[in-house]
Amino acid sequence: MCGIVAYIGDKKALPRLIEGLRRLEYRGYDSAGVALVDPNSDRLWVHKTVGRVEELAKGVSEGPETTIGIAHTRWATHGGVTQPNAHPHLDTENRIAVIHNGIIENFNELRASLEASGVVFRSETDTEVLPHLIRKYYQGDPLQAVIRAIQDIRGTYGIAVLFRDHPDRVIAARNGSPLAIGLGDGETVLGSDPQAIVAHTRRVVYLDDREIAVLTRDGAQVQRLDGVRVDQQVEIIDGDYTLAEKTGFAHFMLKEIMEQPESIRRCLGGRVMTDDGNAKLGGLNMSPRELVGVKRVVNIGCGTSFHAGMVGAMAIESLARVPARAEIASEFRYNNPIVDPEGVFLAISQSGETADTLGAIEEVQLKGGQTLGVVNVVGSTIARTCGQGVYVHSGPEIAVASTKAFTSQIAALMTFTLMLARTRNLSLEEGKAMARALADIPNKVAEYLQDPGPIMAAVEAVKGARYVLFLGRGFSYPVALEGALKLKEVAYVACEGYPAGEMKHGPIAMMEKGTPVIFLIPADSQREKAISNMKEVQARGAKLIVVHNRGDQEIASMADISIPVPEVPYYLTPFLTVLPLQLLAYQVGLALGRDIDKPRTLAKSVTVE
Ligand code: G6P
Repeated sequence: MCGIVAYIGDKKALPRLIEGLRRLEYRGYDSAGVALVDPNSDRLWVHKTVGRVEELAKGVSEGPETTIGIAHTRWATHGGVTQPNAHPHLDTENRIAVIHNGIIENFNELRASLEASGVVFRSETDTEVLPHLIRKYYQGDPLQAVIRAIQDIRGTYGIAVLFRDHPDRVIAARNGSPLAIGLGDGETVLGSDPQAIVAHTRRVVYLDDREIAVLTRDGAQVQRLDGVRVDQQVEIIDGDYTLAEKTGFAHFMLKEIMEQPESIRRCLGGRVMTDDGNAKLGGLNMSPRELVGVKRVVNIGCGTSFHAGMVGAMAIESLARVPARAEIASEFRYNNPIVDPEGVFLAISQSGETADTLGAIEEVQLKGGQTLGVVNVVGSTIARTCGQGVYVHSGPEIAVASTKAFTSQIAALMTFTLMLARTRNLSLEEGKAMARALADIPNKVAEYLQDPGPIMAAVEAVKGARYVLFLGRGFSYPVALEGALKLKEVAYVACEGYPAGEMKHGPIAMMEKGTPVIFLIPADSQREKAISNMKEVQARGAKLIVVHNRGDQEIASMADISIPVPEVPYYLTPFLTVLPLQLLAYQVGLALGRDIDKPRTLAKSVTVE
């Protein structure tokens, strides 16, 4: 989703801005643009394009030589994907340029009042009110003009503002959309994501909500909107930000699927103690006494992270015997949730920037609840807002469809489950068995990926289908949801995931001869019941693609297409059963000619509600 880069320094701005945008491409976007101070003109130089940063780069070769500018990748919210709607947006004189992430909620009334005073808008965006408002309030002091304009708007923003008349500064402000300022040597770089900064420096200041900064070549001055100066906390960006390469794979999605043995191993490494039958999480400052005091666990997330949260909640409830549930962040935050002060609320997010998840944990914190992050991106807003938690260490995930983050999130949640369970009724021996099984997961995942079974036969069955159903019970139910999400995200095939026992209460009506039904039946306590459900759909002519334990001949013989996976304890089956579903979505997407790593209308990091 939208990306912001700004550069002010002693080097050419344009190539650095383009490089910054390239590094933000993975977030998802549909158009891009750049604004520069042209020393030979009294207007700002602006170039925008629909489509890829590559297109923008081709179109800007004639750009002016300058050392200051701002650039943006847009993911359309207000107004279609058009060149005029791309950022930066300008005031009527082309002397003030604004790039913006977030949503201005009262833009309709602001636009009407600006139009009434004679302003002619050039786009359909909410953002365009900002340069006009700044122009309205500008009386020679850029900082004060931006502060005054911000006072008029309601909503979320991360903005960068460039003034033709002030080629020595960029103004940046944040409320709800992340911004980080990189402090380099003779250069200062702004990014909506550290990825845009790390090529220049690892010294960074994160803006907090309602803060505004003046960036110059020598650094930045940060203050609150009410004028109070903020003591800057310079942090060092940690983590792996090397621009990810496909390393021989056709797509990032496939690379990330195949990487899962290592990414899961990284997540578990140093945390699971097989000899003690326990685990330790360095980012979690909770003693056994505090852990035993945890009365409930609520896992909050969106999309794939929500599905990982469902798996985690099941594990916590069934193994640690602590009441646990998963909540969709966008629902939870607005439903006036009851926040148990003796509970813990886990914010699960790959990017650490998802607006709904952030909003939900802020609501929890407001109500006095304890929040812990289960996050991949180090230093992200959710990680910082939670204050403590677990990094899942899956490494940069570039493909929009989340794969390795899902299994790493589950690995982190299982580790937490083990700790929690050991403070309660899980014995040393049971703890050891769980720790050993968990530590062995990377090997089992590798074993499956070496021999993934007849995925291409399943692709043939699924690619032309009008409707596809994913079914599972217990721990396989969230995996069914995740399989359907992947197929929708990547291949745009109409499908849904359902609890297998609930299928007869609705989706059974969709069964026609040949309807592909993907059934997850690893050997667990629900196996017999799942077999009955399998027979129900089979009787209606469905084509059964079944993911089951290697060696389960009974199930294999009932399936039209049988996909065996290595056997693991029932609560760890999601690590294995999700793999063929990830591969299936990838291969169906490929067979249908989809743009796998950048599927339509979806963003990697959804920073708006
Ligand atoms: C977007 C992505 C999904 C992801 C979800 C949550 O919708 O397209 O793949 O699961 O956001 O993202 P998060 O970064 O919070 O895990």
